[in-house]
Amino acid sequence: MGVNIRGRSFLTLLDYSPKEIRYLLDLSAEFKRMKMAGMEHKWLTDKQVVLLFEKTSTRTRCSFEVAARDLGMGVTFLDPGSSQMGKKESLADTAKVLGRMYDGIEYRGYKQSVVEDLARYSGVPVWNGLTDDFHPTQMLADILTIQEEFGDVKGRKLTFFGDARNNVANSLMVVCAKLGMHYCACGPRELMPKEELIEKCRAVAAETGAVLEFTDDPAQGAKDCDVLYTDIWVSMGEPAELWEKRIKLLLPYQINKELIAKAKPEAIFMHCLPAFHDRLTTMGEQIYQQYGLEAMEVTDDVFLGKQGRQFDEAENRMHTIKAVMYATLK
Ligand code: CP
Ligand code: NVA
Repeated sequence: MGVNIRGRSFLTLLDYSPKEIRYLLDLSAEFKRMKMAGMEHKWLTDKQVVLLFEKTSTRTRCSFEVAARDLGMGVTFLDPGSSQMGKKESLADTAKVLGRMYDGIEYRGYKQSVVEDLARYSGVPVWNGLTDDFHPTQMLADILTIQEEFGDVKGRKLTFFGDARNNVANSLMVVCAKLGMHYCACGPRELMPKEELIEKCRAVAAETGAVLEFTDDPAQGAKDCDVLYTDIWVSMGEPAELWEKRIKLLLPYQINKELIAKAKPEAIFMHCLPAFHDRLTTMGEQIYQQYGLEAMEVTDDVFLGKQGRQFDEAENRMHTIKAVMYATLK
């Protein structure tokens, strides 16, 4: 039977079967081919979407806007500074209003329960553009990038180094479990994923043949690794006071030349971005002044080196988000 996800929300990949995920990846690759070939695909000209951002964004916002326009849709962007959302009007009331005007809603914010409530109350597909717990649209772009490199992803070892219980790491564990990959969470014990999520992923892995590994040893994480992945050490919404503690905890998990040399020779480096790999940001310079670090989660030579795939990954956000909107709205 064919896959049909029309009318569904996209809140976490836990809700999607491996077959549905593969369908979205195939559709993404098809949209990418069309875009590259300059083939117009304004297939949803009668649709309108709204993008709600309670946290900042470059890639996710731009991907949704460009993808929506490529599909011929109208797009409205709202942030807390320019709407009543959250301050004078509850999310539930906002969702009920928006669901009467728009065909789909993107939400980036804090609690996962908010994006779930939006889906419940709006009556239209809601797409999770990042919450404290999950970042599912990022996952499709990541897997598409790995497929472009290696072909079939099954059995490939992806190690996440760092804050292994953040939204990106949680989502990587889920998608790797769904697609039968070898996922390794490599970080300090106190930053490992919640047991409840691990149990859910173990149940998925039992069906798909995925391997789940947890280690606090960076060398073990890099061993036989195909994809070395990292993310910022303090995520949006976490207090700035955490930086000092996180730097101490996570410096051993920095992806640098020495660590990458322990992986497979053909291994690639990935990062959802934004990344602290130099001093060319206000934060990067501040951290240098305070702690003397030129880079944090990844060194500049690795970031700019031949293994880096982070910009392909960033471009793939747009193709994959287009696939999600199209498949759920068509
Ligand atoms: N990777 C990612 O979601 O980037 P933005 O925060 O810029 O959207
Ligand atoms: N873990 C990061 C991801 C940014 C795309 C954050 O939530 O800030």
